[in-house]
Amino acid sequence: MIRKYIYGNPFPTDAIIRTFPAEEGTPTYGNISTDEGFTFTYTMDEDDIVYGLGEANRGINKRGYCYISDCSDDPEHTEDKRSLYAAHNLVIIAGVKTVGLFFDYPAKLTFDIGYTTSDTLTVSCEQADLALYVIDRDCPYDIVKEFRKVIGRSYIPPKFAFGYGQSRWGYKTKEDFRKVAEGYRKSNIPLDMIYMDIDYMDSYKDFTVGSQFDDFAGFVQEMKDDHIRLIPIIDAGVKIEDGYDVYEEGVENNYFCKRADGSDFVAAVWPGDTHFPDVLNPEARRWFGDKYRFLTDQGIEGFWNDMNEPSIFYSKEGLEEAKEMARRFANTDPSNWDGSSGGEGVGVWQLGDKLRSLANSHEDYQRFYHNVNGEMIRHDKVHNLFGFNMTRAAGEAFERIDPDRRFLMFSRSSYVGMHRYGGIWTGDNKSWWSHILLNLKMMPSLNMCGFLYTGADLGGFGADTTRELLLRFLALGVFTPLMRNHSALGTREQECYQFENTEDFRHVIGVRYRLIPYIYSEYMKAALSDDLYFKPLAFVYPDDKMACRIEDQLMIGNEVMIAPVYEQNARGRYVYLPEEMKFVKFLPDGSISEEILPQGVHYVDIALNEVPLFIRKGHCIPLAEPAECVDVIDTQSLTMVGYQGAEYVLYDDDGIHKDYENEENYKTLNMK
Ligand code: GLC
Repeated sequence: MIRKYIYGNPFPTDAIIRTFPAEEGTPTYGNISTDEGFTFTYTMDEDDIVYGLGEANRGINKRGYCYISDCSDDPEHTEDKRSLYAAHNLVIIAGVKTVGLFFDYPAKLTFDIGYTTSDTLTVSCEQADLALYVIDRDCPYDIVKEFRKVIGRSYIPPKFAFGYGQSRWGYKTKEDFRKVAEGYRKSNIPLDMIYMDIDYMDSYKDFTVGSQFDDFAGFVQEMKDDHIRLIPIIDAGVKIEDGYDVYEEGVENNYFCKRADGSDFVAAVWPGDTHFPDVLNPEARRWFGDKYRFLTDQGIEGFWNDMNEPSIFYSKEGLEEAKEMARRFANTDPSNWDGSSGGEGVGVWQLGDKLRSLANSHEDYQRFYHNVNGEMIRHDKVHNLFGFNMTRAAGEAFERIDPDRRFLMFSRSSYVGMHRYGGIWTGDNKSWWSHILLNLKMMPSLNMCGFLYTGADLGGFGADTTRELLLRFLALGVFTPLMRNHSALGTREQECYQFENTEDFRHVIGVRYRLIPYIYSEYMKAALSDDLYFKPLAFVYPDDKMACRIEDQLMIGNEVMIAPVYEQNARGRYVYLPEEMKFVKFLPDGSISEEILPQGVHYVDIALNEVPLFIRKGHCIPLAEPAECVDVIDTQSLTMVGYQGAEYVLYDDDGIHKDYENEENYKTLNMK
């Protein structure tokens, strides 16, 4: 049962696609106050667990910290951060009373989940203009399923997108891309995609390719002939440059975000000064989306949308203020170094703070407007919808470009609703061990909010990776629908062939390809029935107190549990089995070890070049023969691993078109 409560005059976000009548009165759970902005408070029982929030910091159980939905380009995902790139405003309280709450509000929203007071959940925002959906079911899993039904079917990528991809900020020329392709093919490490970061463009201009890519269509085909898809990035900001068609058309048709005085807002991002396409304006959204044709016409089948919080390095106004402050700092007497003597003096820290706050400043988000059906809406009031609508622009355009085909699309910033148009990657993580665990913890929460096609930058984006860290990161990535190795300019090169003993990488990534029939099947079943691909153990074993508190193991589909290694120098780990399971290890010589382990805690050995998984009692999963790209996986000759006599229902299709409802896509396989 879902009940909708309306406060003030909510902005229509399009997160929920089913219409609900607004309830009279107040929700039966918690207390609401609209005296000063909006506040919802709820007293939690000592043992209540709180799920949700999608892409957010810390645990699967969100209790004990404060999180702020405020899409932010912040590449330092340290434990203290409250906002990341997304706003996924669903929480589920599970315990004595169980209830799901979705706060459909597109601006800054704070979830204090037992942070200020340990038994109190407080959700608050500045303006009491929102819709609150209260989902009443007996258990958190059912709440999720109910929620997922009303937000619409999750995005489904083409099957090649379940292959492995290599990315790095800094590939510039055809030769750079050929080197990566060759590096993988020569070492026989599987590969399906190479991602093109900003350097493929002409001066970082969206929908252009640099002159180094003469006959780009030919180059795209050359790569495809080797079963490799090139996946270019598209950034939110459109470079201001006379003669650049996207810029000129946008200005002429008023398709860019405006200042209060009607002029086009200027924000500096990678290309220097840019304008933001007004993706909340349906006409501008259509125009921007149609621009993807420039690349699809040349054979491109997938994209990643970036910098769409939107990220701002500085605005014209912010820069002027900073320059003025720097002038005053230059004139400040050195005895007043910290500015404490007052007057016109500016201290060194004040100047530092000002410079640091130039990027992604909330003041800038108040300086521009969207044209929503003729009404000018200040950006900060709808800030969390930008990435959603940039990706929606592309998704809606793909329907026009080729309605029968699937395109690969994922975004950095998102809001619930965007999950219908694309997946997300979890942004600029680091080559840190703690980020393997953070990656794992985010996955089920993201699934709850509809984001099924997700993954982190494997190996870590910022900082220098190590061979060991990359291998362990990949061993988790084997199971994430989006499996991509990506790193930042200037960091240690982390393509798998850069390290010694490449056969270990061939093996670990090879396991992914053996599992693709299963991973694809489970993904498709989850997407088609509004279910979860990743689940916390608690959703499967709700009566098992220990399973309910596990934060470093996950369930996949109905058959598998994973327990990745996330510590340096580990040779194995402790794992909790809520029931008897078969411990399966893919060994580097291509063989598989199988051992039945009873319910309970076990220490299991997991060498650096092994991929472990656990199959639930009475279940089995299909395995393909090793392959180096998705196109050549032989789905006709699958073998089964798991329990004798078990059955598995496999979903499969051509991976290109959208014939999802065809009953012939399902086939029952038996483990003899
Ligand atoms: C942003 C993206 C990152 C990309 C970089 C350069 O930081 O998150 O993935 O490599 O921009 O485009």
